[in-house]
Amino acid sequence: MTNDSTAPLVVGLAGCGTVGSGLLRVLAENGDLIRERTGRDIRIKSVLVRNPSRVRAAPLPEGARLVTDAALLTDDPETDVVVELMGGIDAPRILIDRALEHGKHIVTANKALLAEDGAGLFRKAAEKGLALLYEASVAGGIPIVQTLKESLAGNRIRSLVGILNGTSNYILSEMTSNGLDFETALAQAQEQGFAEADPTLDIDGHDAAHKLVLLIRLAYGVEYPYAELPIQGIRGLSELDINFAREFGYRIKLLGQVNEVDGRLEAGVFPTLVRHTFLLARVGGAYNAVRVEGNAVGSLFLHGRGAGDLPTASAVMGDLLAVARGARPNNTGFVRQVPERARILPPEEARSCYYVRVMVRDAPGVLRDLAGAMAAEGISLAQIIQKPEERCGVPLVFMTHEASARAMDAALRQAADAGLLRTPAVYYRILG
Ligand SMILES: NC(=O)c1ccc[n+]([C@@H]2O[C@H](COP(=O)([O-])OP(=O)(O)OC[C@H]3O[C@@H](n4cnc5c(N)ncnc54)[C@H](OP(=O)(O)O)[C@@H]3O)[C@@H](O)[C@H]2O)c1
Repeated sequence: MTNDSTAPLVVGLAGCGTVGSGLLRVLAENGDLIRERTGRDIRIKSVLVRNPSRVRAAPLPEGARLVTDAALLTDDPETDVVVELMGGIDAPRILIDRALEHGKHIVTANKALLAEDGAGLFRKAAEKGLALLYEASVAGGIPIVQTLKESLAGNRIRSLVGILNGTSNYILSEMTSNGLDFETALAQAQEQGFAEADPTLDIDGHDAAHKLVLLIRLAYGVEYPYAELPIQGIRGLSELDINFAREFGYRIKLLGQVNEVDGRLEAGVFPTLVRHTFLLARVGGAYNAVRVEGNAVGSLFLHGRGAGDLPTASAVMGDLLAVARGARPNNTGFVRQVPERARILPPEEARSCYYVRVMVRDAPGVLRDLAGAMAAEGISLAQIIQKPEERCGVPLVFMTHEASARAMDAALRQAADAGLLRTPAVYYRILG
């Protein structure tokens, strides 16, 4: 590894799939610009893959070699930076740990690893004075990591809310705009390459939750343990609710959100109704967006491609250039590299307005009894509509004033116990 600030930056690239190939393309197209911006060339020396005979979407740069032995990156004295674009948790953790041990800077797009098991890696990078950069791990091409670490570093962050998973947003957009049901929209997302063959991480909210844990660290400098984050995905979300929400003037979006309530963090990933006039409601297809509220800057909105080869490679490039410039590592945005545990508002105490849909018998007194169950928990109703009978009952849809999650659970349990509901109640938060 060289300290000469005009010598080429030597890179070991781990992974040459969607993002890795995108990176090779951007490097090939923008090489002269990189020199102008940093005074250095970026030279890919080794490219680690599982299957070297697979055809790659981008040609290897001159002089680069395909390898299957990770030690040829991590232990190579000439390599300055290891760029980890493999995915997964165990293999990349071992690779990054070993590369740090050998004094390599790290650039990664791996949100799952950093959210679930990042502490040890950040500690090691800090001890060694090395960069561990991860702009591409949250919201693809949107520069939200750098924005929180640098540009907004002088703000207290009041809240942050984002559409952080393009697959879910694509599915919800298709259901809303084209009237598709969930299964058809998911199949279409898979056909068009937006969704993985196994879409669990995306549609069950885990991918958005990984990103939210990283954003909470960057915004507040604390660790919200991934295992404790409330997560609700969009699997099986009904087109009935998409349509009823629209009648009330809302779109349903999968949001990751955090805000500070009396010194404690209230956070989670939930399908949420968003007023149709809000910018977040207008984020369509596979796009991502983040709205940040800082006490000095006010409200800020970032929108862009949250995935894909070139947008994600754009974020990786930003990190690589930062390393090439030799900037002092600023990995977490805080002096403390291993954050303290967040002070967490118990999720059942979180307060929100709610959209509620229940399927009931078409009988006198049902509405009165339901309103009674709500009132018993101190929940008041803002609006209510009754829809024509469906196969499994008469839909009653209402919007509530602000209530705690605990009160809402209790009221709906009471209604179920009283035999008022023909199917389990569906309820979603409304973004305030
Ligand atoms: N795709 C996106 O739009 C996107 C956006 C943001 C972040 N990310 C993140 O970026 C990372 C890469 O995603 P991707 O979509 O580019 O993945 P991908 O297309 O599946 O590519 C993964 C690459 O890593 C190699 N690889 C995987 N495990 C390996 C191992 N144990 N040893 C050696 N090589 C290994 C694969 O080799 P073979 O080709 O030989 O199988 C392949 O080249 C993930 O962490 C992902 O979450 C992706």
